[in-house]
Amino acid sequence: MIYDREYFMSANFSVVFDSDGQTRIMDCKSGERMHPLLEPFAEAKKLYLEQSLVAIKRLTDIGTSPVVIWDVGLGAGANAMAFISYDWSTICDERLALNLVSFDITLEPLTLAFNHQSAFPYTSHPAVESILTNKHSRTWSCNQRAQKYHIEWRYVEGDFCQTWRESAQSKRFLLTPNVICFDPFSQPVMPSLWSPELIDNICDAFKETPVLLITYSISTAIRALFLSNGWYVAKGKSIGRRPECTLAVSPAGNAIGLLPSSSSSSAALLDKNWLAKFLRSDRPFPLELGSFAQEKRRSIVLQHQQFS
Ligand SMILES: C[S@@+](CC[C@H](N)C(=O)[O-])C[C@H]1O[C@@H](n2cnc3c(N)ncnc32)[C@H](O)[C@@H]1O
Repeated sequence: MIYDREYFMSANFSVVFDSDGQTRIMDCKSGERMHPLLEPFAEAKKLYLEQSLVAIKRLTDIGTSPVVIWDVGLGAGANAMAFISYDWSTICDERLALNLVSFDITLEPLTLAFNHQSAFPYTSHPAVESILTNKHSRTWSCNQRAQKYHIEWRYVEGDFCQTWRESAQSKRFLLTPNVICFDPFSQPVMPSLWSPELIDNICDAFKETPVLLITYSISTAIRALFLSNGWYVAKGKSIGRRPECTLAVSPAGNAIGLLPSSSSSSAALLDKNWLAKFLRSDRPFPLELGSFAQEKRRSIVLQHQQFS
């Protein structure tokens, strides 16, 4: 089959046909793919949706309503649609209310995926059309009696760091999150989204809120940032060729059991083996932290309750 190259590209993104047989959206500048490990929707479900189910059920059971999910890096919408299309009646009763907030600087990749529904069939859902076409209010909600639960989806356009700063200044967060699907491109491509400043701010702002943050990154330096802020860090499931991923949970979230239990999944708090690796690492923290700050954080990590 001959593909019209232009048709499969927008200004900054392209549909690519990878050698593993999967069709993905690629960032043209960096060459980085969205969901590079599995078929994109399968990866979204396994990495972000499935690993948050215990937390969402737990939060709903203790009366949290709505449960707020931040989708950092909407991209082609696979993560968002994994939450929207899930059959919630299998784990929650009619009390479930979900509020999904997606952040991105552009709707370009979602538009590209929507224009190629044969490759990205999850975009054929009315929610995607609603977000793309409803220019004045990028929202979608569903409150069908048959489904019993309520879901709202909202898109917030702009640099996430800037949105964060503005919210922090006004001390009004766009709905305090309970689950954060943290899915920016990698640190070299998007350094500001992996910066100590942003991660420290998130950890500090939500330490007393029950929050589970899920990310594909397994960087020692990123995990150490969460630990040095007093958050608990577990390794999550193996996804494709990647042996694990990262689940970080706020102290308040750890206290009420937001992590999937180790018997029902591979999630387990990082242990002394990880600590030994951290102590051997030649880059235990992001380089922008000076040696004094690193030393201070190192002792916090060593004394963290999760290693006692
Ligand atoms: C790895 S992709 C996300 C894939 C997506 N979660 C999905 O399910 O398809 C990363 C996304 O982050 C977005 N992005 C880049 N810089 C950003 C920023 N400063 N703030 C928010 N989003 C940003 C990109 O436009 C891109 O869509």
